[in-house]
This record gives sequence, structure tokens and C-alpha cells, in this order.
Amino acid sequence: MKSLPYFCRGEVVRGFGRGSKELGIPTANFPDSVVEHLPADISTGIYYGWACVGSGDVYKMVMSIGWNPYYKNTKKSMETHVIHTFKEDFYGEVLSVVMVGYIRPECSFSSLEALISAINSDIEEAKVNWTNPNTSN
Ligand SMILES: Cc1cc2nc3c(=O)[nH]c(=O)nc-3n(C[C@H](O)[C@H](O)[C@H](O)COP(=O)(O)O)c2cc1C
Repeated sequence: MKSLPYFCRGEVVRGFGRGSKELGIPTANFPDSVVEHLPADISTGIYYGWACVGSGDVYKMVMSIGWNPYYKNTKKSMETHVIHTFKEDFYGEVLSVVMVGYIRPECSFSSLEALISAINSDIEEAKVNWTNPNTSN
């Protein structure tokens, strides 16, 4: 993918709210304008990279781009899980991300547990893909 690394930023908007509640893995959704600006060669799937909320610290992230086949969404979304435990939600704040690499295509799963375990493997992969000299993440 020639567009990688790809940088984008946008205000965090509300998704369906399933990330935290059903999956136990909070995800931050970008507005449609950010999704629509994605270069054509960035395919749907799961990516890893770095993220920062407002002017806060930089953490690793995993991002899902697409239609969430498990939930059969009709609208394409970009959902970022920042690999850090935040004290509070950050709806309305500006999330800046740089997508560095591709992990896998989006899949449908036979159970919620299988989806959760795939996302946890993505997080593990993002953690081992490179070492960050500044943090223990
Ligand atoms: C790293 C990562 C990988 C994901 N992989 C998939 C996937 O393979 N299939 C799928 O249907 N959804 C996948 N999702 C999307 C979740 O289903 C989605 O984040 C969840 O439905 C919460 O959405 P909401 O914020 O709109 O409520 C993934 C999300 C993340 C952060």
C-alpha cells in the first residue's frame, strides 16, 4: 500500500457504543469526512500505528476500517482502539493517528468471543511490531 504510513485526524464521534459495552474494548470513531478522504489504495481491514488524543501522549493503536462484517454495518467506519487505559471517554476531542502497517482483512466470526479474541491478537501484534523508546507500552 503506497499510501502507508497514512496520517489523519478528526473529532471523535459516537459509534454504536458496542466497543466498550459488548466487547470491553473501547473504540473511537472518526466522522464520515475522515473516512471519505481515505486514499483508494487503503483497503478495508485492520491496521496498526500510533495515536494521540488532543495534545496528549502518543500511544500505539489498532484500527478497523470497513463495515464490521460481524455486525453487518451498512456504513463504512474507521474505529481506533488506543492501547492505553484512559480515565474518561474522549468524545469531541481531536484524535490524531498514523497508520503504519496492515494486519489482516476484516472477518465475520461465529461468536462475540471469537471477535474479541481476534482483536486481542491484533493488539498483541501491534505491541510486538516495534519497540517504542519512550514508553513501556
Ligand atoms: C483492532 C480491531 C479489529 C476489529 N476487527 C473486526 C473484524 O474482524 N470484524 C468485525 O466485524 N469487526 C471488527 N472490529 C470492529 C468491532 O466490531 C467494532 O469496533 C465494534 O463493533 C464497536 O463499534 P462501535 O464503536 O460502532 O460501537 C474490529 C475493531 C478493532 C478495534
